[in-house]
Amino acid sequence: MAVKRKPLIAGNWKMNGLTKDARALAGGLAKRMAKSKSPAFELLICPPAPLLDFCVNAVKGSGIKVGAQDCHTAEAGAHTGDVSASLLRDMGCGYVIVGHSERRSNHGETDKLVRAKAEAALTAGLKVIVCIGETLKQRNAGLTLNVNRQQLRASLPAGATASNTVIAYEPVWAIGTGKVATPNQAQEVHSAIRKSLKRKMGASEGDKTRVLYGGSMNPSNAAELLHLPDVDGGLIGGASLSVTDFWTIADAA
Ligand code: 13P
Repeated sequence: MAVKRKPLIAGNWKMNGLTKDARALAGGLAKRMAKSKSPAFELLICPPAPLLDFCVNAVKGSGIKVGAQDCHTAEAGAHTGDVSASLLRDMGCGYVIVGHSERRSNHGETDKLVRAKAEAALTAGLKVIVCIGETLKQRNAGLTLNVNRQQLRASLPAGATASNTVIAYEPVWAIGTGKVATPNQAQEVHSAIRKSLKRKMGASEGDKTRVLYGGSMNPSNAAELLHLPDVDGGLIGGASLSVTDFWTIADAA
């Protein structure tokens, strides 16, 4: 019998939004959530770090979870400008995203660093969303599955279980471009990721671990993607900045 994985609909706000926007977005989502009885999905918002505290308070009691977009590998110390996983947990975060392709490219983050961040997050009691994905050049060279398998192998934290770890497949060419993976392209990679997870974590944990799709997901393409057999939710950028669009995507799950 196929296992049931509760879809996770996660909004990555990236470096967007001021306090007034967070009030409107987090507040608007909390209202919708309050009206929906036992939703079939888990809802997560990942605002910029300075808005985390505000958002944690804005969604309190609604069931919406709050996550950060990055964390440091160390628990504390001389790391100006960085944020520790233990502080995120202390502030009320439930999740942290690590290894987003924008961090990998803008900050030169390697699989090894991503894995260390993920392990710091797990140690702090956070759940982690580990991002992987190929570039267009790699896809065109026929390397898609190899690249994703390799990134997964090297970025997956020790101690990963279905309840503390989520994988996000985000093809780099689909992020913020309006170009979305076709259902066949997405399912092919998600199914390869699932097979790798089963090998690494054991069949049962691998089967239960959620694998999200990210990259130009919007209200018009969400249903098709979210209903694929190995897609267990979405990591949404642009469309997560609108209450209506984000909620429509969640509803499609
Ligand atoms: P877009 O939905 O804007 O393409 O961004 C996807 C993403 O990078 C989410 O982490």
